[in-house]
Amino acid sequence: MCPARRPLPPSSSLPAIRSLNDEPESRILSALGDLYGLYCPLPTSLAFQANSAHKDLLITADSGYASDNDEDDGKDEENFELREDPYERAFAERWLTSFLGRVEELTCFESEDSQQHAVDKAYCVLASFLGQDKEEDVEDTEITRDYHFALNLDSSEAREHEENTESKTVTVQLTDGLAGRDNTDHTDVGLQSWGAAFIFTELMCNGPARLNFSRDALGSAPHIVELGAGTGLVGIALGKILPRLGVPKSTIIATDFHPTVLANLEANIIKNFPTQIQEEGSMSPPIQAARLDWQTPDLSSPLDKQADVLVATDVIYGPEHAIWLRDCAARMLKPDGVFWLMLTVRTTGKFEGISGTVRASFNGHDGLRNPQGCVLTILDEECFARPSGIGRGDESEYRLFKIGWASWGIKEHS
Ligand SMILES: C[S@@+](CC[C@H](N)C(=O)[O-])C[C@H]1O[C@@H](n2cnc3c(N)ncnc32)[C@H](O)[C@@H]1O
Repeated sequence: MCPARRPLPPSSSLPAIRSLNDEPESRILSALGDLYGLYCPLPTSLAFQANSAHKDLLITADSGYASDNDEDDGKDEENFELREDPYERAFAERWLTSFLGRVEELTCFESEDSQQHAVDKAYCVLASFLGQDKEEDVEDTEITRDYHFALNLDSSEAREHEENTESKTVTVQLTDGLAGRDNTDHTDVGLQSWGAAFIFTELMCNGPARLNFSRDALGSAPHIVELGAGTGLVGIALGKILPRLGVPKSTIIATDFHPTVLANLEANIIKNFPTQIQEEGSMSPPIQAARLDWQTPDLSSPLDKQADVLVATDVIYGPEHAIWLRDCAARMLKPDGVFWLMLTVRTTGKFEGISGTVRASFNGHDGLRNPQGCVLTILDEECFARPSGIGRGDESEYRLFKIGWASWGIKEHS
């Protein structure tokens, strides 16, 4: 085994910005890797795990909410001293800012992917600086990142609709209005993207048909509503995936109840579908934002049409949420519709026990009945471990519930 490399001070090891074009790509990537190793020992970026358990996860930027409890392999004193050195940090920050300012004109990258990889890494390190500043003033910090997901076009039907077969990636650009903030009970938690949204989006991209996101299951113009959308990752990704799966005319409505979260969500939608929004009259964006409070749902336009699919990630973090969502969903879901609910299980702290409220609420006994006499029931349930580098330390696992109408009580999950 090789001994760990001694960290070098950024001021003496980074290549000069003005001569970056004379450097080989490997030197720049290695410099960024060193900065990352020095300043981001936690959380482990997915970019660093490409060869480990989550090979398929193509998210190249850190979700930003990884655990404080993860094992820290950056505890050695040398790293610590260097990391805390204000001169070195300021130098690294200036270098990264200049690098990002010039990256478009650099010709040393061998491919767009490696250039994007470098940009992602630079942003991750800068983001970590903001995180370290949180004692000072990060209340209004906004960070915009690109998240990349590998799209698996597993059906021939989907492949037929894919114009560019080389392009198998879905990229979602999100502004996270609360980067670096570590406060889970704030009412604007939806300004962050949460682990469950990443896991669900990864699942949608990795096996869309498995979640019935296919032309066969949805038809050409399904109506899809996201509940508690937050930054909009899931809905925006769906808006990008569905046309590529042969579902060209979906209507996706991403909902939330918090005004600031809604404003951020709208801005994220505009960022991701700029052409459709500018070319007024020719095409409308596949996704729109709307206000919806699960407790007192106002189902007037654009929410007056029943949904083929409801989707929600990490929306159960209060004792009353599961019941509100159940009754809200019961008013919104078509008789043959599906509600995908991705629960985040937190087994410690004040959220302990809340995950149990989903099974208790959707047990088929107390829910609203539809005109056919059916109640919303858990039809299937699947568990996902938290991958390293995604989610916060108090998130122990994720459970995906497939919920639909049934005329009987809870169906036992085998
Ligand atoms: C933990 S965040 C999850 C956001 C997003 N789904 C994700 O996974 O990144 C919970 C979201 O639910 C929204 N929310 C909480 N209570 C709500 C309610 N009564 N009605 C509608 N949205 C609500 C919050 O504003 C927030 O956006």
